This record gives sequence, C-alpha cells and structure tokens, in this order.
Amino acid sequence: MEKRAQLYEGKAKKVFATDDPELLIVSYKDDATAFNGLKKGTIVGKGVINNKMSNLLMQRLEKAGVPTHYVKELSDRETLVKKVSIVPLEVIVRNIAAGSFSKRYGVEEGVVFDSPTIEFSYKNDELGDPLLDEYHALALHLATPEEIEIIKKYSFAVNEQLKVFWRECGVTLVDFKLEFGRLSDGTVVLADEISPDTCRLWDSKTGEKLDKDRFRRDLGGVEDAYAEVMKRLTAHI
Ligand code: TMP
Ligand code: ASP
Repeated sequence: MEKRAQLYEGKAKKVFATDDPELLIVSYKDDATAFNGLKKGTIVGKGVINNKMSNLLMQRLEKAGVPTHYVKELSDRETLVKKVSIVPLEVIVRNIAAGSFSKRYGVEEGVVFDSPTIEFSYKNDELGDPLLDEYHALALHLATPEEIEIIKKYSFAVNEQLKVFWRECGVTLVDFKLEFGRLSDGTVVLADEISPDTCRLWDSKTGEKLDKDRFRRDLGGVEDAYAEVMKRLTAHI
C-alpha cells in the first residue's frame, strides 16, 4: 500500500491518501489538546498506545457485529482504514456521571446510572462542539433518521461489549465518545478512535483515573496511566 499526499492534520492524528481511493492511512501523534484546543501538550508514547488500543478494540467490535473503518495495522503509529465521510456528530455514551454531565446537572462524579445515556454534539470546532438532540441533527441535515437509529444501536452495542471487556481488565468504563462515517456506498461504520483520549477509564478497585482526564485536569502521571491501561488490555486480549 503506497502512502500518498497528506489530506488532513487533526489535533491527534494525520490522514494520508493511498493508491486505493477507498483506503486511507491514519498516523497517530503524541500531541494532546483539551478544551477545544485551548490547552496543548505532549503525552509521550500516546500515539503508539492509541493506535494499537483502538485497533484491538475495533477488531473485537467487528467480531461482535459492529462494522468499523479498521483494515490493517501498518506500524506502531499507522493504520490502514476505509475512507469515510465523517458524520459530524460526536456520540457520547455514559454509564457513570462524570465530566460535563456532572457539571451541567450538578451530579457528583461517580454516580452510577440505572441504564446508559446517549447524547450528541455537533462536531464543529468553531462552535465548540455544541450539544444537540436528534431533532436538531435532522434540522441541520447532519444525518438521516435511519443513520441516527443505526448510530444509536451501534453505540449501545459498543458500550455493552467494551463495558464487559474493560471490567475483565479491572477497569470501569465510565463514558466514551464515538464518531461514525459513511463509506462510498453510504454504509455507516464506526470510525475515528477508541482510546484513553476518548474514554474515561477508572481502576475498578481504587477509582484511579487511567485516561486523558489526567492531562485535562493536571493530575500528573499521564504517560503511566496510558501505559497501565494498555498493559491490562494486552494481558487480557
Ligand atoms: P465530557 O464529560 O467532557 O462531555 O466527555 C465525555 C466523554 O467524551 C469522555 O470520555 C471524553 C470524551 N471526549 C472526547 O473524546 N473528545 C472531546 O472533545 C470531549 C469534550 C470529550
Ligand atoms: N477534543 C478536545 C479538544 O478539542 C480534547 C478533549 O477534551 O478530549 O482539545
């Protein structure tokens, strides 16, 4: 597979064309941002961990019936993926109150929900990814009703799969963000990444944060936390 021109550079990844118009190469960086790019830093080794973790989890999800963009890991930081046009929705599933949910509704972090919640943000950096509901998404033509239904179905399926998997690793899956894309024939597949950048992962015994909140909140031990969750995942997979 020949790597061609760089098409895009995001906050955490670069995307390259290949000689196949239906395939792209993503390259994971160590760059970290928070608060819509206001806070910037580096998490040494993050790109390698996020690449490998995302690939392992996506392969597992494929087996469980959730289609993904994953094709093949090419190197420590690079993966071949199916080309998609991203649905401009950030889908957030929560099992436990934390982060913006706790802040918005005045609920202590750590309160366990009876059943998972789902919410959408409009993926638009200029607007600061504002929260919206399904009716807003339809009004803005961000997705069709059928796409929203399948996105919800896949997102809850991802939650059920990952909750069990992480529990077996001694990690509690608090919440996470997903992005979906459309293949050239319109099929909706899971895209972007699943990593400590996009999930809240707490040690099941101690409650210690093992994710990007260590960076967002200046808790220290960021690299060690990423290495620890990766170690537990590879020991279990
Ligand atoms: P929140 O509580 O800040 O809304 O975050 C919910 C989840 O989404 C959490 O696991 C972190 C993840 N997330 C992203 O992946 N990207 C983002 O830009 C934000 C704000 C959150
Ligand atoms: N996506 C956020 C940013 O724009 C990072 C985060 O909080 O996860 O910097």
